[in-house]
Formats: sequence, C-alpha cells, structure tokens
Amino acid sequence: MRAAIITLSTSGYAGGREDKSGPAIRELAEAAGYAVVHTALLPDGVEPLAGELRRLCDNDLADLILTTGGTGFSPTDLTPEATRAVVERPTPGIAEAMRWHSLQITPRAMLSRAEAGIRKKALIVNLPGSPKAVRECLEYILPVLDHGLELLKGTAGNCAR
Ligand code: MTE
Repeated sequence: MRAAIITLSTSGYAGGREDKSGPAIRELAEAAGYAVVHTALLPDGVEPLAGELRRLCDNDLADLILTTGGTGFSPTDLTPEATRAVVERPTPGIAEAMRWHSLQITPRAMLSRAEAGIRKKALIVNLPGSPKAVRECLEYILPVLDHGLELLKGTAGNCAR
C-alpha cells in the first residue's frame, strides 16, 4: 500500500521550524510495510490542504494519507475543516479509537479535533502535531488500517478476526 504524509505547519512551511512529525510517521509507516510515495509540508488553512487531498485522491496517487498538525483549538488549526470538506464517506471510528487510546496516556487527547474518512479509493487520517502524539496514535491504529484499506480496494478476505 502507498502512503502519503502531509505536515501542516505555517512556521515549518516558512522554514522556521524543523518538521519532526512527518519523519516519525514515515518511520512507522515504512516499518508497517507502507511505501511512502509522497510527503508535503503545507501552511495551516483549509484550501492548501483540501486542494492537496483532492489531487492525491482523485488521481489515485496514494492509498493512505496521513496528516499531522492543525487539529487543536488555535484559530489557525483547520486540518479537520479541510478534511471534512473533501471526505465523501466519514470513518469516525478511527478518530474515536485514537482519542480513546490517547486518553489513557493524556487527558489532553480530548483537545484533538482529528477526523478521518474516505475519498474515492483513499483513506485520509488526521494525526495530532507532536511526534509523541503521532507515535501514540499510529501504534494503535496502524495494525488495523491495512484490513480497512483491503476492504476499500476490494482485495480483503473475510472479517473473521
Ligand atoms: N494525543 C496523544 N496521543 N498524545 C498527545 O500528547 N496531545 C494533545 C492532543 N492529542 C496529544 C494527543 C494536545 S496537547 C493537543 S492541543 C491536540 O492533540 C491537538 O494537537 P495539534 O494541534 O498539534 O494537532
């Protein structure tokens, strides 16, 4: 399966801050067997991300798109809004699972407004912005996503497990 990683950070985009979360996602995704075919660093805001998500999904350029950052409460945190604008079929269980798992680690997990959903044949998942949060969320959801992606692609066996 092909993974794309998109980091949302206005200061990172301007060159003022090193992106540590994108590389953390790459490491975990590759360890889980994904081929990372695309990475991008975008400024906060709805349109840069919504446009990139549409481009990746509508041209079948990735199977799994993982975003990091912009899920909190600051006025510039608009990753969930961009995601909702492009998603055709929401997959709320993934965001619920991340928050449930993360709440065992920190009550601040309730502050992430992360969304997840399907557009065309691609699954989009918002992750929080810190490398720590990225690791905590991915360790929980990544082992399950491959079955979801197989169902989406029509290559899955049964759901017996
Ligand atoms: N989830 C996990 N697993 N671990 C964390 O440390 N941090 C929270 C939350 N989710 C956190 C987490 C915090 S402090 C915030 S503000 C929100 O994610 C939103 O983060 P973001 O704005 O960087 O996306």
